[in-house]
Amino acid sequence: MKILIIANRLPVKIEREEDSFVVKRSEGGLATGLGSLETDAEMHWVGWPGIHVDDENEKQEITEKLNELNYHPVFLSDEQIENYYEGYSNSTIWPLCHYFFSFIQYKAEYWETYRQVNALFCEKALPFIEDDDIIWVQDYQLMLLPKKIREKKPKVNIGYFHHIPFPSYELFRVLPEREEVLEGLLGADLIGFHTHDYMRHFISAIYRVLGLNCNLDEISLKDRIVHVDAFPMGINYEQYHQAPSLPDVRKISERLIGELGNQTIILSVDRLDYSKGILHRLNGFANFLEHHPEYHKKVSLAMIVVPSRDAVDRYADLKIQIDQSIGKINGIYSTLGWTPVYYFYQSFPFNELVALYDIADIAMVTPLRDGMNLVAKEYLASKREKPGVLILSEMAGAAIELTDAIVINPNDTQEIEAAILQALTMSKKEQRVRLNNMQKRIS
Ligand code: UDP
Ligand code: G6P
Repeated sequence: MKILIIANRLPVKIEREEDSFVVKRSEGGLATGLGSLETDAEMHWVGWPGIHVDDENEKQEITEKLNELNYHPVFLSDEQIENYYEGYSNSTIWPLCHYFFSFIQYKAEYWETYRQVNALFCEKALPFIEDDDIIWVQDYQLMLLPKKIREKKPKVNIGYFHHIPFPSYELFRVLPEREEVLEGLLGADLIGFHTHDYMRHFISAIYRVLGLNCNLDEISLKDRIVHVDAFPMGINYEQYHQAPSLPDVRKISERLIGELGNQTIILSVDRLDYSKGILHRLNGFANFLEHHPEYHKKVSLAMIVVPSRDAVDRYADLKIQIDQSIGKINGIYSTLGWTPVYYFYQSFPFNELVALYDIADIAMVTPLRDGMNLVAKEYLASKREKPGVLILSEMAGAAIELTDAIVINPNDTQEIEAAILQALTMSKKEQRVRLNNMQKRIS
């Protein structure tokens, strides 16, 4: 028996550097969360290596490199990346599931290519599948895959996990392909969501679109039963909790503390995404600076924005707006010795990210919608000697578990401003109590 994870993205990505290919860690909660899963079972991944190559020799070279790690690449053409990945996955389903109704784009070629690429993933995965394996399909890019695998391998165990919100039926019903998408998912034996709300929305869609009843957590089909449940995704707690004491991480933390002096650091870490509420957060911070000059030169926001999907117009536009907003704040408030917003449009490796979690006094995680949000959990897990405060959006799946955070509505910039003040003035004792409660929960 082995576990075969099938996801659009592998836990590593391939990048071209000069004449060779290098393997780097992928960002995004799916890849980092499942990539750190520890199991005794033999585990394989099938997924896209994050790079476009046409040359067959190069494909072979990449395949061999990845096979050493039990990863099996699915190569996508330019057209498939455009219509399946940037198109149906990230311009139709992503805005739909995150309640950005007016951002949804429908194009026949998006859907056709989505079907085609789901079939391609099936074809690439089949040679690795044996009847006693556990097949674990991941996320919204591959919603047709459970059914496709079931048709070829009726006896195999198939799980599907949805890493993003599942929207209310009122929104889901707008999707022209709603029936085929739900039928695709029902190819699985077990369908998982982060929260009970997402699960409830899914069950309601199954009833209204397909006319199927769900009894407790079971949907009865003619020949099988499909189970539906909520499994809030966690992190590898010990990995994050131990990391700040590793010598390499300590060195980075000490360097950062040396550079920053006794400034208070508010950290924010997201992929470039309109669902993350980055502009609202910047507005909240700008209001805070305007109304609290006593904190000038004492507090800075370290904002990490990891490049993501920037070939999609909405993402490219957001990047411009973020640049402008930060430029405006720094233009108004900077002094020769103080930068209000340190801005990084780049991805950080694990050790540097953990060092930032370790030294940050406050983390601001304020998405407008987020399936779970692992950054919030990673920040809390990385805290040891120095406590810290988490400001968390009620729209993140994580808010259900992390009730000791300062929970805010991310649309309300006044509330963000007030939360920053509350975090800055919270006693160390209260910080410790809240942190302990949340660490206990996520560990
Ligand atoms: N991450 C990373 N490098 C960075 C910034 C983020 O590896 O520079 C990782 C981070 O550790 C986290 C993931 O990206 O595990 C983001 O996951 P989250 O659930 O917060 O959001 P998602 O990107 O999946 O929407
Ligand atoms: C979210 C999605 C994942 C995706 C990740 C990064 O976590 O749920 O499926 O892998 O974002 O996005 P990307 O488009 O770079 O894979």
